[in-house]
Amino acid sequence: MPHPIETDTIKIAVLGAAGGIGQSLSLLLKTQLTSFSNNRHVHLALYDVNADGVRGVAADLSHVDTPITLTSHSPADSADALRDCLINAALVLIPAGVPRKPGMTREDLFAINAKIVGQLGGAIAQHCDLSRVFVLVISNPVNSLVPVMVETLYASAPAASAGVERRVFGITHLDLVRASTFLHEHTVNRTEPSYKMPYVPVIGGHSGDTIVPLFSLASEQQYIAQQQLESLVHRVQYGGDEIVKAKNGQGSATLSMAHAAFQVVKNFVLLLTGAADTISGIFYVSLLDRAGQPACPGAAKLLAQIDGCTYFAAPVTVTRSQGVVDVDYGILGKISTYEREKLLPLCLPKLKTSIEAGRTVGTTV
Ligand code: NAI
Repeated sequence: MPHPIETDTIKIAVLGAAGGIGQSLSLLLKTQLTSFSNNRHVHLALYDVNADGVRGVAADLSHVDTPITLTSHSPADSADALRDCLINAALVLIPAGVPRKPGMTREDLFAINAKIVGQLGGAIAQHCDLSRVFVLVISNPVNSLVPVMVETLYASAPAASAGVERRVFGITHLDLVRASTFLHEHTVNRTEPSYKMPYVPVIGGHSGDTIVPLFSLASEQQYIAQQQLESLVHRVQYGGDEIVKAKNGQGSATLSMAHAAFQVVKNFVLLLTGAADTISGIFYVSLLDRAGQPACPGAAKLLAQIDGCTYFAAPVTVTRSQGVVDVDYGILGKISTYEREKLLPLCLPKLKTSIEAGRTVGTTV
């Protein structure tokens, strides 16, 4: 029996809630979100094709003593499960899909996960208010699946999808979390440890060379020799492989990813409650609208510097009513020569190929 949703409730749908990320993220949402919900009621609608899994997660979390409510939804329990999960959702989180095994790249997941994300996108177009909902794509390859999602929404809701590209976000925040952690580890002074974590912007995409960590813009500046810098950059770009290898066939990052996603979700909740008028962060977003025009101020100037890559992770400003309202194209004017001349040229052609693959599939879903 679905929980009755009050009109001032913030409903968050988690698609893929029984998985490694879905479970850990749902736990964080259930235990932590009350502090960010500005006295508004939060409801978590958990969906997964694994019926026992999602029923179990919802039952287990329902004993956690916070006022956040939950419902479980699975096609085995109801033909309308996805509709019931999505209806009135203000935020849709998508960690549904398969994770990497050793030896796989994120691109290897594309064929399977594109179908899943395309199917979920079709349901979002049908059951959500596209002028109001925010969609956060966690499933990999993010570089291609965000274009799949945007194109699917355009194709499935031709009349209602104007501007929807400004409400779909690829979650690359784990790259910033890793860059911060690795820089802190690298610079930590054992006799006088620093408890302040550095902020390191990471732009571009979310796979290997498409990840462009900007250590030159880190909040805590320290001299780093070029060789050490290159190994830090490589560790951020391929840090996910450390987890895939350690889990030896049991999946990829789940706990650190849930932490990263929670940092993002809590900001969106602040925006949805009205506690914040705008939020900013680095997200992988579309720079063009459906008509092929720059999606927001700053997009044309950014496109001119990134060889026309139509999706890019960059600092953006987001409002509740309009989604992405600005992108900080100026960041590329501040980066180091190494970042501009070595890292960006490696990122851009690979990113373009991934975007094209996603757009092609998205238009045919
Ligand atoms: P998992 O296999 O543990 O969980 C995935 C869940 O999705 C499973 O419970 C499965 O039943 C469910 N699922 C499959 N098809 C579905 C459908 N059609 N509808 C609803 N649910 C469906 O995988 P894990 O570790 O949670 O990873 C999920 C995704 O997140 C993977 O694609 C992984 O590569 C990606 N990921 C993304 C990161 C990022 O930084 N954006 C970091 C780490 C992983």
